Amino acid sequence: MSDKPTMIEFRDVHKYYGDYHALRGINGQIRAGEFFSLLGPSGCGKTTLLRTIAGFEGIDSGAVLIDGKDMARVPANERPTNMVFQSYAIFPHMSVGENVGFGLRRDPRSKAEKAKAVEEALEMVGLKGYGGRAAHALSGGQRQRVALARALILKPKVLLLDEPLSALDKKMREHMQVELIKLQRQVGITFVLVTHDQEEALVMSDRIAVMFEGEIAQLADPETLYRRPNSKKVAEFIGTMNFIPAQVISETGGQIEIEAKGLGRATLPADQCPAGRGDAPMVGLRPETLTLLYPGQTATDRSVDGVIDEVIYFGDMTYYDVYLGGTDVEVRLSMRNTPGRPILEVGSKVDVAWSPSALVLFR
Ligand SMILES: Nc1ncnc2c1ncn2[C@@H]1O[C@H](COP(=O)(O)OP(=O)(O)O)[C@@H](O)[C@H]1O
Ligand SMILES: [Mg+2]
Repeated sequence: MSDKPTMIEFRDVHKYYGDYHALRGINGQIRAGEFFSLLGPSGCGKTTLLRTIAGFEGIDSGAVLIDGKDMARVPANERPTNMVFQSYAIFPHMSVGENVGFGLRRDPRSKAEKAKAVEEALEMVGLKGYGGRAAHALSGGQRQRVALARALILKPKVLLLDEPLSALDKKMREHMQVELIKLQRQVGITFVLVTHDQEEALVMSDRIAVMFEGEIAQLADPETLYRRPNSKKVAEFIGTMNFIPAQVISETGGQIEIEAKGLGRATLPADQCPAGRGDAPMVGLRPETLTLLYPGQTATDRSVDGVIDEVIYFGDMTYYDVYLGGTDVEVRLSMRNTPGRPILEVGSKVDVAWSPSALVLFR
């Protein structure tokens, strides 16, 4: 993956809407053929950044490069990009085929060649044979496919997708996520997806830029973002994380010794201790890195005693909120409900296994 050439590059991009500083120094690269997501809460600047790639939005300073070329003087219609919008504007009075072929209306190819291109694009999105149908009669998921086919038929180098699945219900959205991943692999075009849904970003992306307030907080692959978030803010935004007050005891040669309330002391390598952001020192650990020990089991690494305060049953999983080591530190841990593993009750005394390698220090 990392040897792929750069397709899009942001160089210190700033953008104002009047006095409002919407993009505050964006730097980063999107690789050719990558499924890339811009992830962040509503209003953080995702759509704005996407529109600077498309050329729908000018920038106040910095540069956006596509395929090595500065886009400053390249108008939107001459950029090698195409956008699929949140509210995919399908022309209801046209057929599916006419909708898909709309972008080819000034294309010099023959009618037969264009019809073939439409059919190919429809096949790509799983709508083979739908060309003659009325567009207004389509379901939400089918409309989304038509919008995709309409964008892909123009063979852009980059496909820009602004929350394309947000109008679909949960089941359909999950289905289309998988379809989109398959489609991206098949066509090999660089996809840039905007989403506020962290799960969607984790599922779909090769890499993700997490944005807050006009800045990229962290740009990494999903596993790195999940396991090694570089700040408490990123950690909170992605998945569930327990935060436990901690103290730094000593720092020597890249090793940091900490004492976490309820867990005790641990020595962490530097990659588990991202550069300081001024947070009060605390360690973060994910629910699935903590394990309840059933009778007869022993910890492979460390363990601490606890008392179950809450049991939340999810069918395949159970969440337990547990007070650790006789303190007021409460953590949430998750256990898979495998056959023969009983659900424990509130008030039970338990041992909880944990590992220093699963900790991240924020400070
Ligand atoms: N055309 C505009 N004029 C003024 N402010 C805008 C405009 N477009 C977006 N904004 C503001 O810029 C910020 C980022 O918007 P946007 O990029 O749409 O966020 P996101 O897509 O992450 O929800 C928001 O505070 C929004 O209100
Ligand atoms: Mg948006």
